[in-house]
Amino acid sequence: MSVAPTSEAADRDPAAAADDLDVAAIKADFPILSTTAHGHRLVFLDSAASSQKPTQVIAAMDDYYETSHANVHRAAYALAEAATNAMEVARAKVGRFIGAASADEIVFTKNATESLNLVARSWGAANLAAGDAVVLTQLEHHADIVPWQQLAADRGVEIRWVPLTHDGRLDLADLDRLLDGAKLLAVSAMSNVVGTITPVRRLADAAHAAGALVCVDACQYVPHVATDVAALGADFLAFSGHKMLGPTGIGVLWARRELLEDMPPFLGGGGMILDVTLDGFTPAAVPHKFEAGTPPIAEIVGLGAAVDYLTNLGMDRVRAHEISMTDYAMRSLTDRFGDDLTIYGPTDPASRGGVMSFAFKGIHPHDISQVLDQHGVCVRPGHHCAKPLMRALGVGATARASWYVYNDEADIDALGDALADTDRFFDF
Ligand code: ALA
Repeated sequence: MSVAPTSEAADRDPAAAADDLDVAAIKADFPILSTTAHGHRLVFLDSAASSQKPTQVIAAMDDYYETSHANVHRAAYALAEAATNAMEVARAKVGRFIGAASADEIVFTKNATESLNLVARSWGAANLAAGDAVVLTQLEHHADIVPWQQLAADRGVEIRWVPLTHDGRLDLADLDRLLDGAKLLAVSAMSNVVGTITPVRRLADAAHAAGALVCVDACQYVPHVATDVAALGADFLAFSGHKMLGPTGIGVLWARRELLEDMPPFLGGGGMILDVTLDGFTPAAVPHKFEAGTPPIAEIVGLGAAVDYLTNLGMDRVRAHEISMTDYAMRSLTDRFGDDLTIYGPTDPASRGGVMSFAFKGIHPHDISQVLDQHGVCVRPGHHCAKPLMRALGVGATARASWYVYNDEADIDALGDALADTDRFFDF
């Protein structure tokens, strides 16, 4: 796996790499893709919301429950050691997958939302006071907005916003002024709505020069782009298992070890303590300090299997496929529908992930989604948990198609055919 010098896809080799994923073979690994919906083959184009799961991930979780389950880090018998080992092997895989300096920098959470709340509630509460500022961008989804707004309300912290350009990129003209005196920049590496890949390294360099830390929401990035936390210049990085072929219920917070060591625990309970007396407690070492209660062990094992699956495909090949699919979707659907179709976000496929939010002939996105569903085509309508971004785009909702390793051009063609039928259906 190569290391990205920046998070700008246009700077990366995969933009030029051939798309040589064997999608037919990959599709065969996903049992759900051989099911049907309303009599049609399932065309799943909603992976930005949650990806499907390959047999290898499902089997790893089954195998764990059939052969290795017991509670972790609590018992001395062999079965409990096997469970603990399975969890810690997965932690090491996840750490290697994102270039962490050590597996101890990987904190398992419920999802990326919890990871971001952990940063706001733990690091934020310990380091931010009234009058301090954090900088967010208008690309963020609610998981990277609301925790900061809650902190702002509790603490009197100021939130400053990086605005957007007309094509859904970050407008960095005023970046230095926004960062001046700020304590943290929180930024999505890839928009879940318009697909924009943000220049995380450039932002991180500017933030660090201003004395601010950088928290990267990488929910949409880690599943799709080879990730190296050091190359990105991140201080914190959050993502979810379920968008990267893993199960639901498991998320990750990576942070530099010294930050984690200085941060107070987030949730209290068993598993996160070294000692408890009637007078108080001593927290465990990282990462266990942040993992109160019995963790989602099977889900962690499943995430490890998802990391193996993606690593075997090769993340540069995953990214090359995504660029090629994005290029095909934007070109073929624009050729077919012309001005009837509005695609939001950057026009260069290499500057965006495999996410395409669109408007079609003034038909409401919920109506589009319902007609597409009758053709077996799954897309998400709505505000995509990013209402400030929708307001910046000047729309209340969009329809969003998103693709992944198991999608091919025939899936995009099926979307086009179903859109043509939507047009006929609403032709009044
Ligand atoms: N954030 C997820 C999405 O974009 C749920 O759909």
